[in-house]
Amino acid sequence: KKILIINGPNLNLLGIREENIYGSQDFPSYFEELRHSLSGVRLTYFQSNHEGAIIDKLHEVGFSFDGVVLNAGAYTHTSLAIADAIAGITTPVVEVHISNVHKREEFRHHSYMAKNCVGVICGFGLESYRLAVSSFLS
Ligand code: DQA
Repeated sequence: KKILIINGPNLNLLGIREENIYGSQDFPSYFEELRHSLSGVRLTYFQSNHEGAIIDKLHEVGFSFDGVVLNAGAYTHTSLAIADAIAGITTPVVEVHISNVHKREEFRHHSYMAKNCVGVICGFGLESYRLAVSSFLS
């Protein structure tokens, strides 16, 4: 199976950024651990701080991959354009957040992505990504 993890803005700073919320591990090292623990999966990773680049990537993989795991960062709460891109592709998308956004500020409670996604996983730290990837494997 071909599965892509997409991380949006500021997630390149994982391990450095707000460690009390997002933990101390950087994403590339978590990704390698996750990739090596899975067999029969072609797992790839893309990160961008740019809304359009995330949309371009969704279009690129969205008619051929088996699943996309998307943490759109703050674009989750703002981007109709990314929400439309998810609606426009055929590959199923699972929305992921490291933190439990519902325990946090009110503006993090609404997601433009969620209604176009298969499901939403949040609050399990980096392991949220493993749970999301697993959902495509059953
Ligand atoms: C986040 C939650 C968002 O509200 C925030 O803007 C992020 C990270 C998370 O993974 O918990 O950048 O998506």
